[in-house]
Amino acid sequence: MEEIEAKIKTLREELERHNYNYYVLSNPTISDREFDRMMKTLQVLEEEYPEYADPHSPTQRVGSDLSKEFEQVVHKYPMLSLGNTYSEEEVRDFYERIARDLNEPFEIVAELKYDGTSISLIYQKGRLVRAVTRGDGTRGDDVTANVKTIRSVPLKLMSAGYPAEFEIRGEILLPWAEFDRLNKEREEQEEPLFANPRNAASGTLKQQNPTIVAARKLDAYFYYLLGEELPADTHYDNLEAARKWGFKIPDVIRKCDTLQDIYDYIAYWDTERKNLPVATDGIVLKVNSLRQQKNLGFTAKSPRWAIAYKFQAERAVTRLNSVSFQVGRTGTVTPVANLEPVLLAGTTVKRASLHNADIIEGLDLHLGDMVYVEKGGEIIPKIVGVDMDARSMLLGAKVCFIRICPECGTPLVRPEGEAAHYCPNESGCPPQIKGRIEHFVTRKAMNINIGPETVEDLYNAGFVKNAADLYTLTLSDLLSLERWADKSARNLLASLEESKQVPFERVLYGLGIRYVGETVAKRLTSAFHSMEQLEQASFEDLIEVDEIGERIAKSITDYFADARNLTLISRLKEYGLQMSVDEETIANRSEKLKGLTIVISGTFNQHSRDEYKAMIEQHGGKNSGSVSGKTDYILAGANMGPAKLEKAAKLGVKIINEEEFLNMIAE
Ligand code: IVH
Repeated sequence: MEEIEAKIKTLREELERHNYNYYVLSNPTISDREFDRMMKTLQVLEEEYPEYADPHSPTQRVGSDLSKEFEQVVHKYPMLSLGNTYSEEEVRDFYERIARDLNEPFEIVAELKYDGTSISLIYQKGRLVRAVTRGDGTRGDDVTANVKTIRSVPLKLMSAGYPAEFEIRGEILLPWAEFDRLNKEREEQEEPLFANPRNAASGTLKQQNPTIVAARKLDAYFYYLLGEELPADTHYDNLEAARKWGFKIPDVIRKCDTLQDIYDYIAYWDTERKNLPVATDGIVLKVNSLRQQKNLGFTAKSPRWAIAYKFQAERAVTRLNSVSFQVGRTGTVTPVANLEPVLLAGTTVKRASLHNADIIEGLDLHLGDMVYVEKGGEIIPKIVGVDMDARSMLLGAKVCFIRICPECGTPLVRPEGEAAHYCPNESGCPPQIKGRIEHFVTRKAMNINIGPETVEDLYNAGFVKNAADLYTLTLSDLLSLERWADKSARNLLASLEESKQVPFERVLYGLGIRYVGETVAKRLTSAFHSMEQLEQASFEDLIEVDEIGERIAKSITDYFADARNLTLISRLKEYGLQMSVDEETIANRSEKLKGLTIVISGTFNQHSRDEYKAMIEQHGGKNSGSVSGKTDYILAGANMGPAKLEKAAKLGVKIINEEEFLNMIAE
């Protein structure tokens, strides 16, 4: 028994050490595969010997399914905000005030101001006991279960010398790369996009399901230590100590002896911050000595010993010409501002997203207004305000959200609790009909050789109203259209014929069921081998499947409850599309590449890239587009890019050729 306990202990320690190497130091020393294997061993042991359970075990980072409202916790030390400055003069005012008030030499620590959501962690005896959001500054939400999923947050501290109890504050961030990935996924599903990484991070932290939080790969940087028995008497040295205990303390913090040092820091980071993996919106200046901090004290809202300097967001002023409302494939109505073209951060901006009705209302927009457009942490420029002084006597009409669909006249609906408006006329609203057909023909779905313009022509000519109609097109139909020559018409017909071989999972994806993206379609077809089985699956059957939650399950059962969809499917079946997983694919499935992440690079002789991609997935592996610490192999053909080659060498990723790969999956 003692042996088991010791083994569990060693595994936990080693896993935490590897977590730290990977997530805090960005310097892994073992492969992901080895890591996963150790984790699995620990999980099995913990299940078998529940008497050794420990809420701080690395296995707890995956998150449980436990769902509850958050408990409110009162902050021992209130979470204050910082005074903001926007110019070098204001920074000088701050500096001079400190010099006057202290009347002795002092140091300033300069740091970056991270643009995420703040968090306070409480450690007792070296263990994380609680994580609380800022809330109203006095009390916040207990989000411990969610924060535990963040790999760079130490659950147990390393090295010695930490106080028996202390608090550490920092920022939870969603790195740009994760933010882009998440939004791309949401765009595919026509879900509302996150406007910036900050909203995405705070939204994620408030998720009731820690498993979802774990999947989003948040990060956490720390910048403030509090407690009765801190190791040092300066802010800088305390952060250095915290770094040794395992916290991710940004290594860009600097001690400044003069105002010029501070200006240099600001000037450097104003441009250099664009190369960081996370969003920043300014710098923070703090008096280094804790004694001096205490002397300076606090106002009701913020410390007198610290201040934030905010970087200037790139902003322009231009005229609002009109607002249009676009209807997407799933009926979501998006308001878009049409602007007088203006140069902003190197690109000409003509349009800006207005997101939803609440945003329009909040801005009190009128046509002809001069509006401020910013490109801050956002991808799409946004309108942040109206220049009220520029409003003339001839005030344009107030911008209101429309009540009926601009495309089909159906009254719009706004589901309770949602910010978006939808057009409910799925079967009769042209952009929804065309949008579904456009989705059906895309490369990732049926790969039929036509673009949105052709779909438009075919729809306008009355030839296609849904995906099934495509398969009834004849040569004479196509030739009756303007601009269609014999060759392109025959090409389209051939492409339609070829699409009948497209595997079932892509047919399912092509139907465009809400929330059923490529990955979900794959999961579904592994669990249900035919359209018929899927159609008969109950809500309960569906949520049994890995990664299928209630929202997706409901969307699927709703889809199959609609007779029009059943007719569409039966027609597609009649025309010969694949409605089940083919026997060979099932027979050839294996788990030989389970847990392995493989990047494909270069050109190949024996199979196409898409075929290799399919093979990786068929054998349980994961295909990824870019080389990272998580890559196990690079399947390299001729002309592999030099950047990838260099990165692979640096990370020690193994490179294999076609033959080696085929051997790996051979019987
Ligand atoms: S120190 C009492 N340092 O900015 C001082 N805050 O407006 C506590 N922030 O709520 C804050 N980077 O969420 C500090 N390096 C940094 C920071 C930082 C970002 C955020 C934090 C805080 C807000 C203050």
